[in-house]
Parts: sequence; C-alpha cells; structure tokens
Amino acid sequence: MCGIIGYTGSKQVKPIIIDALTTLEYRGYDSAGMAVCNNQKNRTDVYKCAGRVRDLEKKCEFKDIDSTCGIGHTRWATHGGVCDTNAHPHSVGKVTLVHNGIIENYKDLIDEFDLSSALTSETDTEVAAAVLDHFYEKGHDAKKAVKSAVKKLKGTFALVIMFSDIPDVIYSIRNVSPIVATLSEEGAMLASDNTALCRFTDRYFVVPEYTIVELKKDKVTMWDLNDNEITPQYLTMDWEKNSAEKNGYPFYMEKEIMEQPKAIRDTISGRTRAGIPNFEADHIPDSLFTGCERICVVACGTAMHAGLVFQALVKSRLNMHIDVELASEFMYSDPVIDEKTLVIAVSQSGETIDTLEALKYARRKGAKSLSIINVKGSSIARESDYVLYTNAGPEIAVASTKAYTTQLALFYLIVYKMAHIRGVLSDDEIRECIRNLKRVPEVVSSVLDEKNAVHVIARGVLDAKDLFMIGRGLDYSILMEGSLKLKEVSYIHSEAYASGELKHGPIALITDNTPVVALVTQERIMSKELSNIREVRSRGADVALFIKADLIQSSTREFDTFVLPNLPDELMVFPASVALQLLAYYVSSDKGFDVDKPRNLAKVVTVE
Ligand code: F6R
Repeated sequence: MCGIIGYTGSKQVKPIIIDALTTLEYRGYDSAGMAVCNNQKNRTDVYKCAGRVRDLEKKCEFKDIDSTCGIGHTRWATHGGVCDTNAHPHSVGKVTLVHNGIIENYKDLIDEFDLSSALTSETDTEVAAAVLDHFYEKGHDAKKAVKSAVKKLKGTFALVIMFSDIPDVIYSIRNVSPIVATLSEEGAMLASDNTALCRFTDRYFVVPEYTIVELKKDKVTMWDLNDNEITPQYLTMDWEKNSAEKNGYPFYMEKEIMEQPKAIRDTISGRTRAGIPNFEADHIPDSLFTGCERICVVACGTAMHAGLVFQALVKSRLNMHIDVELASEFMYSDPVIDEKTLVIAVSQSGETIDTLEALKYARRKGAKSLSIINVKGSSIARESDYVLYTNAGPEIAVASTKAYTTQLALFYLIVYKMAHIRGVLSDDEIRECIRNLKRVPEVVSSVLDEKNAVHVIARGVLDAKDLFMIGRGLDYSILMEGSLKLKEVSYIHSEAYASGELKHGPIALITDNTPVVALVTQERIMSKELSNIREVRSRGADVALFIKADLIQSSTREFDTFVLPNLPDELMVFPASVALQLLAYYVSSDKGFDVDKPRNLAKVVTVE
C-alpha cells in the first residue's frame, strides 16, 4: 500500500525521490506525487498525478527543480477516488504532507475545525494537513503544532511533513503505520520501508510511535510528546545492496523464486547445533516451547498457508492442539486463548495490520508470543515476545514466494525443536529430520533446473477461465497456496479442493477439458488420491499431475506429468510449492501481465 520517502541533504532530491518511489512501487499504488522545498521562492512546490511513477516523472520532466529537500508518496486509494487531486502530497497553508494509514475521525475533524469549504480533495489526509496548519498558524512552532494536531487524530498514520517557511527540514510522526529513518554522509532520509533506504545505507532505525522526528541535512532529532529527546536505536540491514534489484530477471517474482535455495539455506543456517535445532542466537528460551499447552497461528494469505502446513506437522509429530486462524477473523471469532497458549504471528512484511491486531489481542488475553517475520524491526516483530527472522532478503513481487518457503523452513525447525525438548523424538531421529531438511535447498534447485517443463504445463492452462487443484492431506494445504498464487498473478479462477470432498458438490463443475492440477506426494493416501484423479479424468478433465518421483506408477503415465524430486513425504511441500509457483509465474508472464504488480493488490496491507 502507500509508500513514503523523504530526503534532505547535499544531493538533488528529484532523482532520489523518483528512484525511491520506483523502488516502492511494489507495495501497490495508483497515484504518485512529490513536494520539494523551493528556497528561492520560499515555498513548497507540489507535483502529483494519478497513474504510475513514470507519469509523475514525465510531469516534472521539463520543470526546473533545483532542490535538495523533498518528500514523495505512492498512494493506494482508500478515501476518495483515484485522481490527481486526491494524490499526495496535500498542502494547506504552510503545511505540505504525505500520509500512510487512515484518519478514522476525519469527518468529525471537518466539523470541529470548520473545514468543509476549505478542502479541495476527498481525502482524510488533506484534513490532517488542515488541522496541522490550524495549529501551526497559532505560534509557528512546528513541534508544538505536530503535537497538538496528532492529539486530535484517531486511526493509523505515518505523516511526513514540510513547512514552507522552514526550509530543508522534514518532520514526521506516526501511529502504527511504520516509518524508518537514517542519517548518512549524504543527508537524512526516511521511508515507509527499508527497501527505499537499502541502496543508500545499511543502517536505519524504526521511528517509535508518537515520536516527533526532525530531519535536517546533517542531523536527526527525535522527541516524545513530553519533549524528552529520544536516541535512535540503529539496526543493521543484512540485505545486500543490490538485493532489491531485478539483477537481469524480467520480473522480481522469477528472481525471488530462483533465490529460494539460498534463502532457505540462510534461514536454516546457524539454527542447528550438532544436528539439533537451536534458537539460542535468536534468544528464544526452551521454556517458550515447553510451557505451552496449545498453539495458535495468526496470519493472512500466503503466511496463513504456511501455518496450515505447520498445523499438519504439529498434529502428526507433536500430537498437540493447534489452531490456524485468519488474522482478519481472529478477534471476532471468540478464540480460545489463555496464558498456556503460544501464539505465532507469521508475516513477511511484519506490518500486516490484521496480523498485528490479532497478535495484540492474543497478548492481552495472556498468550506468549513468537513471530516469524522477514523485515527486521517491523511492527509485528516489535510487538512480539520473541522473533524468528526468515533470512529471505527483500521480497518485492507482490506474490509471496521465498517468504513462504522460508517461513516453512522455520516451522519445520520449530516442530523438530519441540519434538526434541518434549521428548517425542530421540536425538538420532531429530538429526535424521534435520539432515533431510538441509537437503531441501538442493532439491529445490533441481526443481528450478526443470522449470521449462513447468512452463510447458503452464501453456496448457493459459486460456482457462476456471481451474481446480486437487489433493489430500498435506498436498491439499500445499495446493491452497498454489491456487492463491495462480489466481493472484494470472487472474484465472482457481480453487484448491480436498480431493475426497469433490464428490460432495464441486465435481458438478468438472466437464470436458476442465483443467485440473493434481498433486500426489503423500504415500499413505496415494491410492485414494489416484482414484479421485480418475474420477475427474473420466468426466473429461484435463489433468496435469505433479507427483513425487517414487510414487509414479504405470497408470499415472497417461497424464501430463511433472516429476517432483524425492524427499521424505513430510518435506515434499518444498519442491511441490516451488513447482506451483513456477506454474503461476509462467501463466502470468505468458499472458503478458505485469507479474510483479497484480491488479488491486498491495504488498504491504496496512488497512483492516
Ligand atoms: C500472496 C501474498 C499475501 C500475503 C498476505 C500477508 O502472495 O503475498 O497473501 O501473504 O498479504 O502478508 P504478510 O506476510 O506481509 O503479512
């Protein structure tokens, strides 16, 4: 969703803003804009438009912008349609600002400050600018005005502000919606996320909530609302400098699929000792896993699908009670949570508001919390008692791929860790599990080596309107993710179904040439699954079969088949998921879609 950048320093700001906004495009947006400090004229100049960052770039192409301080924004419309006027930045009086989040009480503020005739857009953001300008006019004290204004705002917000009579200085304050900032030799910078900062520096800090930040060319200062100065807590990004670039791939999604062997290896690395899972470096005590009686996973979308695989493992390996909840439904479903519950929040971005709110709710009920996160220092990470970071590097494509498989890698480590300390498996058995887990990167590589074979299967479903993915047990959980991947990037309606359930309704939809993707990786339910595949085949379905090498039989040779390299059944989720990611990717790219930015979707979902 919306992206923010701000810079003040020694360099020309326009290319910095355009570059950063281009980097932030992945978050999903529909309009772009920037404001720059115009020192000659003692004013802030605003350029903005509906459309892409390149449209904004065109708009400013022939403008003489000579400035070293400015702010930029990509907007994902919530309040008011997609048009130039509603794009950020918004200016009222001396105040110009950009905003991520939602000001929930904007209508009340319009009445309280009598703003209805003054506003030009339909946005909640312009209301925030007007309220801030109201307080600024009272004493021309930026800090005081920001303080007074935010006391009036309800909702989530990250505000980044310029005052036309305070040249080359940027202010910011936030509640929930994140802001990260840094100071380098070239100036001070802030952004809605690290990806915009990582080509400048590997040091950054997260701006704490309700803290006023002042960025000058060579200084960053922060105060809490009682005027106490706050020292920035710098973190180091372990992302390589070019890791947020495409590095020769046509799309980030392909690049990120291809990066999975390394990402999975990096996630496992350092988390075993003598062949046994070990989370000492993550400062996670064993008591977290021995003290709980039940587990509850909260997450959205792909991250929730990783939770479903974990659920199957927890049941089979630990015989323990586990719920996997859609974070958006969690609070409203009267969940059973107490101090004996371990809540695990899973999120690539660490900023998904539904997951964050679910986690806060569970903690209020007394649960212990652990989060599985990709982005260091993100809101969910900071809200959790303990964090395990997936070391996947930046994930830019909207469709999550390497985040999912690295989340899975951590879930496997957690299950084996729990099985070890709860005495369910012996040391030797655990070592065998870990040996197999460590083979995953090489097995995933061999799937990637065969990507052309998946491409051939993808060509067979290009024209499909509807598609089914069928499987049983763990295969069904894997297919839920495979199906989400396909629908989000290819716009083909795809449904994952537990094969045994087809006869209870959906088989009515299977007719001649209905495409069906079938997954067979679990030996103990293989024969039942093969019967289900024959049922759809005999009703005319075109079946593409993804099958574990060891399970191939003479009767399975009649289908278009992709052979998945062998791992123990429990771990087949890795090669199978990667093959299904490739399927979705090729369908989307062959159809000529913008694979990395599927319509209507945002990478970071910060509204409920
Ligand atoms: C799908 C996808 C989404 C995210 C979901 C949660 O490819 O990426 O379903 O998984 O929006 O996002 P995070 O993991 O950032 O909480």
